[in-house]
Amino acid sequence: MTTAFDPTGGSPGQVKFFLPGPVWVRRGVREAMAHEAIGHRGKAFADLYADIPSRLAQVFRTRGFVFTATSAATGLWEAALLNLAPERVLAIASGAFSERWAQCARDLGFAVDVLESPWGSPVDPDAVTAALKKARYDAVTLVHSETSTGTLNDLEAIARAVRAGSEAFVLADVVTSLAGSPVESDAWGVDFALAGSQKALALPPGLGVAFASDRYRALSRERSRAHYLRLSEAEAFAEKHQTPYTPSTPHLFALDVQLDHILAETLEGRWARHDAMRRRVELWAAERSHVFAPAVGARSWTVSCLKPRSGVSSEALVAKVKENGFTIGGGYGKWKPSTFRIGHMGDVDLASLETLLSALDAAAGDAAA
Ligand SMILES: Cc1ncc(COP(=O)(O)O)c(C=O)c1O
Repeated sequence: MTTAFDPTGGSPGQVKFFLPGPVWVRRGVREAMAHEAIGHRGKAFADLYADIPSRLAQVFRTRGFVFTATSAATGLWEAALLNLAPERVLAIASGAFSERWAQCARDLGFAVDVLESPWGSPVDPDAVTAALKKARYDAVTLVHSETSTGTLNDLEAIARAVRAGSEAFVLADVVTSLAGSPVESDAWGVDFALAGSQKALALPPGLGVAFASDRYRALSRERSRAHYLRLSEAEAFAEKHQTPYTPSTPHLFALDVQLDHILAETLEGRWARHDAMRRRVELWAAERSHVFAPAVGARSWTVSCLKPRSGVSSEALVAKVKENGFTIGGGYGKWKPSTFRIGHMGDVDLASLETLLSALDAAAGDAAA
């Protein structure tokens, strides 16, 4: 089902790049990055930045504080932890990225306990409740859409469990869910949410975006151990429509244009388009006996992780489809040899996804295991 809105901005049916990030970027956004240089302490920058945080807040669904950072998403994992400096962290791990965030917390010197869920299984909110009864935590980290396995965790239910059972702050990686499937920062009681530009926001890589709740910001003022990504500095400079340090201005020109595009589609429209792409891959896979890694109901709306049907090699499939100009993701980490991943996020349309699925059918015949 195609809507009147053309997400590709002039290239319907022509996208061939389906990595689970970085993603295809439409022409209008790429062109915005070629803007002439401006100084980041002058009026032109203040005019550019003036309403970026408030429009971005609509994407995070919050009335709270939203900021941008010239950083990969990993830098914002650090920011989420360092600005709170928790005494003990419960790291929920169910795939490569959530495991890595737990390691990030250890590397920063925090005391970390890991609550593990098998790869491909969503985290059970009751297990979170039980873990919170065993020890006192002041932060819980969670990856909403686990890109390595294509699993969508129930952030709403887990945040509710954390709120009900503790005083802990909910720190959420919404890297591959923001702008692709529902993220309700305020309504779900999230304290810190972070994402990168190169996923469903459909911008080039290199810009981080984040939200911090009022109670997070209040505590952060007393406890922060961050320097480059110190929240109170971001807040102080935001008042002047600036960022604390030299930003990647080209990314902000691109974000300015892209926010108009996202809000014109509407978030609900964007979510529905991603949901339709996920459902299309589900139907396609079922008809061909390719098997989804996560169970029904726990599948990311932006990245589908599949085990190819018996007799087909996922690595050969990725290579074969590439010969026809299509880029998809291979498996990640320990799942590298056994799965392939289709990133259907950002400004990709259903018609482009159809051409990819046909190309995969053609390639599957030549991709013997
Ligand atoms: C869920 C998730 N979190 C974090 C990251 C790390 O992002 P970056 O490479 O921008 O640091 C990724 C990258 O794919 C991701 O998918």
